[in-house]
Amino acid sequence: MLFSALFLLSSLHNVVAQRLDADLMSFVTLPEVRALKWDVQYHDRARADPGYWFVAPYGQISPEQPTKKYQQYQVGPYIYDDNGMLIWAGSPTWQNQNVFDFRPVHDLATDKGTHMSMIVNWETDGVLKGKGVMMNTHYHVENEVNVLDDMHDFNMHEFNILPGGKTAVACTYHSREINMEDFGRPTESSWIISGGFVEVDMETSEVLVQWESYDHIPLHESNMFHAWDSPQGFPGWDYVHINAVDKNEAGDYLISLRFTDTIYGISGEDGRIMWRLGGIESNFDMDFTFSKQHDVKFVSSNGTHHVISLLNNASDERGNDENISSALFIEVDTVAMTARVINRINRPDSALTRLRGSVSTLANGNIFAGWSEFGYQSEHAPNGDVLMTARFASDRYSTYRAYKSDFIGRPTTSPDVVASVYGTSDEDITTIIYVSWNGATDVVGYNFYAQAYDSGARVKIGHANKSDFETMYIVDGYMDWISAEALGVNGKVMSTSRVTRSGIPENWKAVGFLGESGPTPDDPSIIVSVNKGSDFGDKTVTDTDSADSMDGVGMSDDTSSNTVDPSHTSYADAKEVAKAVYTAYEVIRGVGGILILILATCSIGGALYGVWRMLQNRKRRSYHHVPSEEGAPVEEIHLRQQPE
Ligand SMILES: *[C@@H]1O[C@H](CO)[C@@H](O)[C@H](O)[C@H]1NC(C)=O
Ligand SMILES: *[C@@H]1O[C@H](CO)[C@@H](O)[C@H](O)[C@H]1NC(C)=O
Ligand SMILES: *[C@@H]1O[C@H](CO)[C@@H](O)[C@H](O)[C@H]1NC(C)=O
Ligand SMILES: *[C@@H]1O[C@H](CO)[C@@H](O)[C@H](O)[C@H]1NC(C)=O
Repeated sequence: MLFSALFLLSSLHNVVAQRLDADLMSFVTLPEVRALKWDVQYHDRARADPGYWFVAPYGQISPEQPTKKYQQYQVGPYIYDDNGMLIWAGSPTWQNQNVFDFRPVHDLATDKGTHMSMIVNWETDGVLKGKGVMMNTHYHVENEVNVLDDMHDFNMHEFNILPGGKTAVACTYHSREINMEDFGRPTESSWIISGGFVEVDMETSEVLVQWESYDHIPLHESNMFHAWDSPQGFPGWDYVHINAVDKNEAGDYLISLRFTDTIYGISGEDGRIMWRLGGIESNFDMDFTFSKQHDVKFVSSNGTHHVISLLNNASDERGNDENISSALFIEVDTVAMTARVINRINRPDSALTRLRGSVSTLANGNIFAGWSEFGYQSEHAPNGDVLMTARFASDRYSTYRAYKSDFIGRPTTSPDVVASVYGTSDEDITTIIYVSWNGATDVVGYNFYAQAYDSGARVKIGHANKSDFETMYIVDGYMDWISAEALGVNGKVMSTSRVTRSGIPENWKAVGFLGESGPTPDDPSIIVSVNKGSDFGDKTVTDTDSADSMDGVGMSDDTSSNTVDPSHTSYADAKEVAKAVYTAYEVIRGVGGILILILATCSIGGALYGVWRMLQNRKRRSYHHVPSEEGAPVEEIHLRQQPE
């Protein structure tokens, strides 16, 4: 009875685990990273702009609890190449917390290279308010911009470092109490959330400009609240919902308010609203509309004439005005007060992006649109032709925005190497090496090295082209003290890993090894000379750079004097090797099964406890705010729990 229950649990767990895991990558070298896989389709590859994708997948928009460690490290900033191959998993850098607006940063005065920025450390418990950070190509944080003291958090929508890199603009949400005169109820007042923005100094976080909607935008412009709505207490009506801000060279600002369906031009001189595009008070003569817009940006602007890009026709929580979402490019003439669509690019699958999304113009003029849900994104030629579509293999994750850019990543950490030894007899031993280098672009291949003992000479035992984030290499013999070199174009060595010991079974006999005791490490120079003329290429022997101080294992310390042992020639027998590898995999699979059973028992027990706790909590908690999917105002969630 117990046994069959356990069996049922374990099969169930298997099904669930497979369903949940198949959409995530996993790596031997970085077991803590579970990056999302992509489904990528090129429709016209030749016209696509070369570059990398920047996305920040999340499962739920409110911060994932740090304790939700099961299948951790999917959320956070990620860089992929344009085939969906992982380049950088930044989730460990930010403790597996959601980050937002992860994007490439160009046009820095200090440095020509592409940097990156994001909003991080946004925590539910209110201990951390979050900050905007800029990282360099070495993945070091260069700048941290903190949130205003009087704000609950760094708003998740926008961290937009302006050309030159001296300042950045970000959205703000403040609770204010206002009189309801605009709704014809002058004797009443209500709390509202005033949407605004700040321009901050990148070095000091000093606020240089601060602007808020509540003394500029009356209540009746909102499509969210109406004259008949009852007033609200703190934190109040999110009546405008700011979701984008940008600045042009003339010093004026552009903001997008989703709950007024309007884009505003704000004077950099005195903060007055210079014009409204869209919504019920539009100043422009226009033969089109848009609504529930996202990621509103200047494409170009000379102060009076602007080209503005946005993600339009995005419906939202409450419904949709149209049936298809689009990236929209609008030419705005603030002299003649006309606005016209100069480019409309429909979502390739003709669907609606219910929330979120982004649009940007690439270096070659192509258009890159992030449609957000499930990471759906597309690249288009300027005439709208669909060149590429991609989405996460997963239905569990979305990204608020998606970007594409050229990028050079040069981590200061070295490549990660893991090696293991398998085999069933002394003549039949194989070493499998895995290598990856998180964050490095332009890696073409790896050279692999082994040593006869800790301070022995480094002997090249093979080379493999890089084919994926993690590269595997299989070599005959018991190779130990393994290291790898990452090679760039022209074979240039970019970085060398530390020397690592090869993993072996705890008990060779127990896992099927046929000899009395287990095998001992081979001298790599012997194996290499036996295999001369096969697939090793040059047999470079270089000095070890190992600083490890393992005890001498009683081996000769003069590798060059070693001669070839004829009994090792059977290593060349590829069939034997294949058999050994297969056997090793069988062993791993067997061990895996037992682990899954244990995990199943633990996690189902844990789940039952979780349900019990949930029921307990539900009894206690009288009010629970359900946040809008786009997250803001998260203030509401926290502040509700600790009134005032
Ligand atoms: C939404 O997109 C459709 C299809 O491209 C277009 O016909 C319509 O005018 C757009 N609606 C708005 C409100 O912009
Ligand atoms: C801005 O651009 C428009 C259209 O190209 C042009 O007519 C106008 O003269 C320009 N204004 C300035 C100040 O350069
Ligand atoms: C959206 O599609 C429905 C059904 O196809 C149609 O009845 C409706 O008129 C469309 N709405 C708009 C605004 O185009
Ligand atoms: C490795 O890449 C080089 C250059 O692209 C190619 O010529 C070579 O055939 C590749 N080697 C293997 C084993 O695939």
